[in-house]
Amino acid sequence: MIRAKILGVGRYLPEKRVTNFDLAKMFNTSDEWIRQRTGIVERRYAEEGVYCSDLAREAAREALKSAGMKAEDLDFIIFATLSPDHHFPGSGCYLQAKMGLTEIGCLDIRNQCSGFLYSLAVADAFVRMGMYKRILVVGAEIHSSGLSFTDEGRDVAVIFGDGAGAVIVGPSDDPSRGILSTHLHADGRYADILRLEMFDISRKPYLTHQTIDEGRIWPKMQGKEVFKVAVTKIPEVIEEALQANGLKIGDVDLFLPHQANLRINQFAAARLEVPEEKFYSNIQRYGNTTAASIPIALSEVLEQGILKEDHLLMMVAFGSGFTWGASVIRW
Ligand code: ACO
Repeated sequence: MIRAKILGVGRYLPEKRVTNFDLAKMFNTSDEWIRQRTGIVERRYAEEGVYCSDLAREAAREALKSAGMKAEDLDFIIFATLSPDHHFPGSGCYLQAKMGLTEIGCLDIRNQCSGFLYSLAVADAFVRMGMYKRILVVGAEIHSSGLSFTDEGRDVAVIFGDGAGAVIVGPSDDPSRGILSTHLHADGRYADILRLEMFDISRKPYLTHQTIDEGRIWPKMQGKEVFKVAVTKIPEVIEEALQANGLKIGDVDLFLPHQANLRINQFAAARLEVPEEKFYSNIQRYGNTTAASIPIALSEVLEQGILKEDHLLMMVAFGSGFTWGASVIRW
């Protein structure tokens, strides 16, 4: 049996740091409010003129380096983002060209905070069926261009940051190691709870001056509802993933949760009776980077020696859609 594994990991964070104090100069908020509710202290913003695919290219470069590979070795690209360079074509195509590649297939995944896990599941399946052997999976976001830095938009604006993370997925030479399983879910009844309705294809044309005047160009979130469902679904899908592999919660060496909000992850850890130190968090430094947060965290835990060979790793995500999922990996 062929099993897929992660062969290399990379991340890229733009240099510009934006603290809670910086945000408090733009609209009515405070460092205390943001820290208490989200755990975030600062986030990174890309400069004007930088595209999502530019961040992705930097993370991909690092991932290739850590896998000991060249861009030409790749045979497929999967790009997860909710902040693509343009509405179409997909950012995967822009990334492919920026990496100096042609011909290989590029797939864009639009599953928001769960985008990386959905992408990983696709890569895993492609590798296991023998279709591709060297897949670049990248999650990248530029949120800072799409946030309303006003009192009306402050609930969302304080949460999100820019960044990119990438992995290379290929066959494992040891069938006991690699991606054991991935479990994906969605519930479209919640689609309007967290969304950006700027492109409304039922309007003719889909974007008007009125769209802008009414503030529909900014993301809208019912924060309490997100919180409530997230803290239920995250433990649920973790239990499902454990059960599918005949594992117990105590078998997991490290949890890499999507960095949506420190409180959500603390709540989920408490529900599962897992010590908080086992739930990695870096949201304090980067905010919520949506599809990029899990691969960024993965690259950090490897660099810091927190994740070691043979460790059992549980990745878990929840986000807009709602979509959620978990992936179990024997590292
Ligand atoms: N600074 C100061 N005050 C604020 C801010 C802000 N940034 N944002 C909202 N407020 C105010 C509100 O206007 C409100 O004021 P009022 O009482 O005068 O009306 C008050 O704070 C409380 O507002 P709530 O929306 O009720 O605040 P809540 O305690 O629910 O916290 C939050 C908001 C942090 C968004 C919370 O609901 C939450 O954590 N939800 C989870 C959402 C989340 O994590 N999303 C991440 C993206 S989705 C994903 O990745 C899974």
